[in-house]
Amino acid sequence: MAKMWEGVTNASTDKLADDFNSSISFDYKLYKQDILGSMAHAMMLGYKNIISQAEVQILIDGLQGILKDLESGEVSFDPNAEDIHMFVEQLLTERVGDVGKKLHTARSRNDQVALDLRMYLKDQTLCIIDLLKSLVKVVTDKAETYKKDIMPGYTHLQRAQPITFGHHLMAYAMMFLRDIDRLKDCFKRINVSPIGSCALAGTTYQTDRVYEAEKLGFSSICLNSIDGVSDRDFCVEFLSCCSLIMMHLSRFSEEIILWSSWEFRFVTLSDEYTTGSSIMPQKKNPDMAELARGKTGRVYGDLMTILTVLKGLPLAYNKDMQEDKECVFDGVETVVKCLNIFIKMVDTLTANTQNMKKAASAGFINATDLADYMVKKGLAFRSAYKISGQLVRKCIAENKTLEELSLQEYKQFDDCFEEDVYEAIDLSVCVEKRISEGGTSVASVEKQIQAVRVALND
Ligand code: ARG
Repeated sequence: MAKMWEGVTNASTDKLADDFNSSISFDYKLYKQDILGSMAHAMMLGYKNIISQAEVQILIDGLQGILKDLESGEVSFDPNAEDIHMFVEQLLTERVGDVGKKLHTARSRNDQVALDLRMYLKDQTLCIIDLLKSLVKVVTDKAETYKKDIMPGYTHLQRAQPITFGHHLMAYAMMFLRDIDRLKDCFKRINVSPIGSCALAGTTYQTDRVYEAEKLGFSSICLNSIDGVSDRDFCVEFLSCCSLIMMHLSRFSEEIILWSSWEFRFVTLSDEYTTGSSIMPQKKNPDMAELARGKTGRVYGDLMTILTVLKGLPLAYNKDMQEDKECVFDGVETVVKCLNIFIKMVDTLTANTQNMKKAASAGFINATDLADYMVKKGLAFRSAYKISGQLVRKCIAENKTLEELSLQEYKQFDDCFEEDVYEAIDLSVCVEKRISEGGTSVASVEKQIQAVRVALND
């Protein structure tokens, strides 16, 4: 096939080599960025009198026409094109004639592809931040609804201390809030324009890189042209942010799956976000949460892909870097899909507060409070801890709860016990007394909710 880059080679390659080399099957996704980038480039060339204003107009009209026709489906991507950049340029030249050949003055595909990818990731980062904000909002609203509902808090997946479902949910709000923060920080480094770095060494033309960057809404330009075309740190950072989002979604998924099991029955997922079984009519499967948990592996894989592609690459551009796109696209698409489904799934889930309370009432999760009670009566914490343990052991042996022991029985272990012990180990009191910042009391959870709502408005 004849090539635009006919130079020292005779520019005809084997069909197998063409197919191997081609990236249009995936980088067509960058068509809009490529066209908008080219428009800004044409404007810069005109502004610096490298081409005439009349030529700028022809190029811009031509590019606008291509954008319109691609969006309407009037024109489709040519699977034989080498990549999206060649495709757009070839089509432009077919449509506007020789002026089309001037567009590639003072740039190279090396800075062009880096530009397109950064433009794409800027949009996607903002979109993911918005989705995360919606998720934080639904999680926080749920937490508000269930801020008084007691459930067992776990460590080692053993019942540990009483908490509220609202408190537990707010832990996830905090994680997603950090994810937003991380993406905002990553955005700063994506938002730097490489265009004008050209192949690697800059150009002899009197270009204006800042003008072009500003036209495209970038906050600054890459300061070294070699770095401009070689840098894919922003892809690594972005996929690392995505991996953390997925890790959080996966932990949340795992809990939702456990909670919706018959063993727990803490939450019920809406029918719209569960599936049935083809042979077991009683089943209601939490497929959405399971898929999100499973897809976490893909996104970690995307991060590993980009890290490994870049490892050991000499400066500046190498064709290996064409492999930067599929992992980035896959990471974006997977995270967006998972967040969209999670927002709906969490919004429509309901808590079975009676079951949560029941689970919290067994398992001696107030044993720490019993020890704290003794400390308040003057015992050292370690001694109190020991007595509390002995009382629990007695309860297990006699199949009783701490609430069911008589005051006389308590007194056999220590004199400090009085009638007020029952209040001290009452689950609602245990929760209400945890007023420390970040704690489980309704007042503390309300403060967390408030803080998150303020952060969301930032
Ligand atoms: N399709 C290429 C990529 O995605 C564009 C850059 C090609 N540059 C080159 N010198 N062959 O990386």
